[in-house]
Amino acid sequence: MKGIVLAAGKGTRLYPMTKPVCKPLLPVYDKPLIYYPIAILMQAGISDILIIVPPDETATFRALLGDGSQYGVRIEYAEQPVPRGIADALLIGREFVGEDKVCLVLGDNIFYAKDLGKTLKQAADVDHGATVFGYWVEDPRPFGVVEFDKDGKAISIEEKPRYPKSNYIVPGLYFYDNQVMGIAGNLKPSARGELEITDVNLEYLRRGELKVMPLAKDFTWLDAGTADSLIDAGQTIRKIQDETGRYVGCLEELALNEGWVTEDHVHAIGDELNMTLYGQYLQCL
Ligand code: DAU
Repeated sequence: MKGIVLAAGKGTRLYPMTKPVCKPLLPVYDKPLIYYPIAILMQAGISDILIIVPPDETATFRALLGDGSQYGVRIEYAEQPVPRGIADALLIGREFVGEDKVCLVLGDNIFYAKDLGKTLKQAADVDHGATVFGYWVEDPRPFGVVEFDKDGKAISIEEKPRYPKSNYIVPGLYFYDNQVMGIAGNLKPSARGELEITDVNLEYLRRGELKVMPLAKDFTWLDAGTADSLIDAGQTIRKIQDETGRYVGCLEELALNEGWVTEDHVHAIGDELNMTLYGQYLQCL
């Protein structure tokens, strides 16, 4: 399975912070935001990754992440010339995905749970159709909202509804089989002029091939798209790390867990960063 991180949004809701530095490179506590969605793909067992970045930003992202070998993965970059919508990521990634399955994650989504890797690998193992998640939030109106029937089967999804039919939203993490390439190719822009990922999911729903996995209450999902949610995310990550003594989104550790790099490799990176707590954490893995 291939993985795509969509990290090309303008970040206008975060101006002036995002005038010189694009949103995925802003810090969430002790790491750049982009580390967290990459961590999601790695925990799903995906090591072939395309990062879609804003125009003229490839060099900045490459300076941070390189070709991915530091984390035992392969990272390619592509630029999105204009923000045409989330589903545009699938069109940009067409060659990269080829005949494979694909997992798309939004560059500002953060997930944490004790058993996250298990849940993600379950979704990645599904060979046919689409798998997305349902997450309970107090105010679902700014998101894609999924409605379930009395047997827990998804029956509708609406993008940013004024009157939501449930409190379950679809977070920005989508697992698709290769049918998605055809579906994305046939999309028409919505009223707000975007290729909507919700329209992709609706097409799978229409085909009877959309699985919505409700996320348990102990899952943490954060969308760091505004100044408030960015600082909330940083504080949540700090709290989780303090309480558990484990780092969230530590790419070197995840690579070690997957068997993609050796302990010596991680320790050498730790030695380079030993002036930071992050480096000292790596030295102890
Ligand atoms: O966060 C989950 C929600 O994400 C879902 O519930 C919604 O169904 C989905 O449409 C999306 O809603 P948002 O309004 O949060 O999407 P936003 O336009 O903020 O874009 C999310 C991220 O994707 C953001 O980091 C910027 C990036 N992006 C977005 C677009 C439209 C791109 O890189 N290129 C784009 O063309």
